[in-house]
Amino acid sequence: MKKIIIYGAGKKGIKYARILCDYGIEISGFCDTYKTGNVYFECGGGQKEKLIFDLKDVDCNKYTIIIAIADNKQYEEVERKVKEYGIEVSSIEENIFEGKDTVEANRNYVAEYHVREMDNYFELVERSDYLNVFWGEDSLFYQMFQELNLTKVVELACGRGRHVQKYFSDAQSIILVDILEKNIDYCRQRFSEMDKVQYYQNNGYDLSLLKSESCTALFTYDAMVHFEMMDVFQYLKETKRILVKGGKALFHHSNNTENYKVTFSSGKHGRNYMSSQLFAYLANRADLTVLKQYEIDWAGEEKLDCITLVGNL
Ligand SMILES: C[S@@+](CC[C@H](N)C(=O)[O-])C[C@H]1O[C@@H](n2cnc3c(N)ncnc32)[C@H](O)[C@@H]1O
Repeated sequence: MKKIIIYGAGKKGIKYARILCDYGIEISGFCDTYKTGNVYFECGGGQKEKLIFDLKDVDCNKYTIIIAIADNKQYEEVERKVKEYGIEVSSIEENIFEGKDTVEANRNYVAEYHVREMDNYFELVERSDYLNVFWGEDSLFYQMFQELNLTKVVELACGRGRHVQKYFSDAQSIILVDILEKNIDYCRQRFSEMDKVQYYQNNGYDLSLLKSESCTALFTYDAMVHFEMMDVFQYLKETKRILVKGGKALFHHSNNTENYKVTFSSGKHGRNYMSSQLFAYLANRADLTVLKQYEIDWAGEEKLDCITLVGNL
């Protein structure tokens, strides 16, 4: 098997080096158009030091290159240059998911990442400025959320439950669902005094513990953006199954079409491959009606995300 060099010794290159390291894959070094010397990064509790090679010194028989450059134009230029040297270009996914079912491997990777890397995120996003992205009065999320009947509401991929405070008093019964036991346990403690909250650690693609036609609403924020399309479709079909007639669901999902190979690991801000049109198509095939849909900016990226309100009419 060929050894790996990462082209791009910036933020994205270091992110890739750490991901590979987590999978037990040691990279040989970096290449970079502008930088020379060594790159240092944390991994597995220790520090790694890797050299930046000159591309012309890379032996095409021994190495494959993963390009870690966010800008599409620059990416294409580098890809052309690397191929001119006869060096094979491979993706981060080909290397970390090799021999595995990509959908399952990505699902597990997203979940593991949230255990390993996201403690800071979960603390930070409790702040009111982060919550206001969803719950500020002029936010589209908030406006569409008003259309949900909260008699029995499911919050999918609830994390540590930061949204609950915003709708708790309007809901009669709340079911918090997340793939991670750690997050469900956290919520169980956080809301231990509150009888109306139930907890469900699921498998990452279905809601099989919930009865058909038993819920009035479902929503998910800042999570489905990372999911594989096949899992999104499973969740849409499950949403159709559990919603009562007239029930509605609100999804914050990805609108990232930068390239069809993109996954959580390589996508901008962890956005997986999805578009507003594809989501509408999947909802339609799950026998849900798309009621409203808006493409939205995320972290300064124009229309990277989308929010879609669907109904079981
Ligand atoms: C970025 S966090 C957001 C949590 C919460 N929605 C919030 O806004 O605070 C993403 C959440 O999705 C959960 N998750 C990841 N993959 C999942 C899957 N396939 N099914 C259900 N939950 C998942 C993670 O455990 C994590 O809690």
